[in-house]
Amino acid sequence: MIEKICNLRDIALGKIKEAASGSEVEELRVKLLGKKGELTEMLKDLKNMALEERKQFGQEANELKNELSELLEVKFREISNNDVKKSLSKGSSFDISLPGTSFQVGSLHPVTIVQKEVERIFTGMGFNIVDGPEVEEEFFNFEALNIPKNHPARDMQDTYWLENGSLLRTHTSPCQVRAMQKYGAPLKVIAPGRCFRNESTDASHENTFFQLEGMMIDKNVSIANLIYVMKTLLSEIFKRDVKVRLRPGFFPFVEPGFELDLNCMICGGSGCPTCKHSGWIELLPCGMVHPNVLRAGGIDPEEYTGFAFGVGLTRLAMMKYGISDIRVLNSGDLRAMEQFSVR
Ligand code: FA5
Repeated sequence: MIEKICNLRDIALGKIKEAASGSEVEELRVKLLGKKGELTEMLKDLKNMALEERKQFGQEANELKNELSELLEVKFREISNNDVKKSLSKGSSFDISLPGTSFQVGSLHPVTIVQKEVERIFTGMGFNIVDGPEVEEEFFNFEALNIPKNHPARDMQDTYWLENGSLLRTHTSPCQVRAMQKYGAPLKVIAPGRCFRNESTDASHENTFFQLEGMMIDKNVSIANLIYVMKTLLSEIFKRDVKVRLRPGFFPFVEPGFELDLNCMICGGSGCPTCKHSGWIELLPCGMVHPNVLRAGGIDPEEYTGFAFGVGLTRLAMMKYGISDIRVLNSGDLRAMEQFSVR
């Protein structure tokens, strides 16, 4: 058997030396070391050998396998290098200034870009980022936010219910209560995330969209603090003065509550399908946290006050990038998405 190995070695070395192209080297590798290669076939005889012979033969065969692999590798590299050198010496056929093969690289989704930007602005003001579940308990989505069963405010936020009584959260506001329960006061948090509503879609409504909740609780927090923070957010996001309007808004979890609308950036306020021909986009509802909500979060409303807001992150992205139809953002259409090539 040892003699067989020596013969194979001699023949193999000769053939490797003679190989003249990369494909010949590859053919040799398969012929010698492949699954049905000559050396592999020899190794099949191992099982019929006596222990001593098997040991010696096994060792020799393994050594040969390693030696041949290495030689084949060296030969392959040598041939490749020669090929490149030949191309270079021919001059015109190899142009090193040509661009290489380009790979398709993904980019961040516009909503993610805006989310990161808002996170940067708020962490700069000392806010922490918190998270909450998308499959939420009814208590956190409604009851703890001062929206008891059968309250008419539930009609505005119809959602998808699970058989176990949980629901797909309709807003990021449940994160307010979770954060208060977990961290207590004083508190400065934002909570970006996906929300769901059972409603028909149009240019500015989706059944799945993103919001970003914000909450600040401390002694003597006032509406002035709220307005300052909202202004900072908008001026930093849009990097220019934007026209907004503040009007009363009803949300059971804030008192007083406001709607902060943005002058529609698609039509400049003259009216279009995106703003439902009103000239304004509902973007940033906010208000002072209702005492019942502070209590649900385990915070004493006699000692602390706070504000909260829930910015429509998807709509913010639409306004920032001039996207007139919200449905584009969930479409997965790469022709639209690849225009936002921030990585
Ligand atoms: C809320 O969801 C409240 N939780 C916001 C809030 C938080 C108020 C804290 C006060 C204090 P509203 O339903 O208006 O409010 O939604 C907030 C924002 O989410 C809207 O202004 C809008 O920008 C966005 N939004 C709501 N529904 C949709 C939808 N179907 N598609 C896309 N964006 C939506």
